[in-house]
Amino acid sequence: MLTQTELKQNVADAAVQFALPFLAPDVILGVGTGSTVDLFIDALAPYKDRFRAAASSSERSSARMASLGIEVLDLNQVATMPLYIDGADEVDHALNMIKGGGGALTREKIVASVAERFICIVDETKRVQTLGRFPLPVEVIPMAREVVARRLVELGGTPKLREGFLTDNGCQILDVSGLSITAPAEFEALVNNIPGVVCCGLFALAGADIVLMSTQEGVRQFV
Ligand code: 5RP
Repeated sequence: MLTQTELKQNVADAAVQFALPFLAPDVILGVGTGSTVDLFIDALAPYKDRFRAAASSSERSSARMASLGIEVLDLNQVATMPLYIDGADEVDHALNMIKGGGGALTREKIVASVAERFICIVDETKRVQTLGRFPLPVEVIPMAREVVARRLVELGGTPKLREGFLTDNGCQILDVSGLSITAPAEFEALVNNIPGVVCCGLFALAGADIVLMSTQEGVRQFV
């Protein structure tokens, strides 16, 4: 029986194999954030001379890539990328995701929007029928925290401030439990439209294009 860390390692290795045909001297890769992505970065490092650079969704991933000799570009220097590779906290059958367990949701959404394909790398514990078992992270402007929290309660959730945590953008996160998100794209738009919300961790308006899912039987691909 593989452990969750072993499952993450397997999908990280599979993601590198998936990315190899896309690598070329002028190519920039989009790289996400999290423990699965950390393993992906480590596995990608030996191929760093086969592509130009990376664009990163967090200071954490940027630092890890820089320490391994992968150049990291400011997103303002990047017009297009063939792939954005990132983990998720939940994935449903339609490739909608909840992300942001690591608090990088806003930059993840921004970097992903520049890429042609979102490659989601997860282990099978992340697969759900309906999104919402994992508390939905919502990044908020600090002075709007309480008013946003009241609106989230009206929407049926129970928001909890992520204590002692500030995002790379200097904002706070409300983790919203008690949701059963049956219409993910509509709910994403609703939450994103609350004044004071920077971004919510639903990736449904633009979900994953491909999910690589690590299982006890091997890595499966969903399109
Ligand atoms: C960070 C994220 C991560 O992709 C998500 O939390 C999954 O993390 P891990 O690979 O550590 O399980 O969205 O903001």
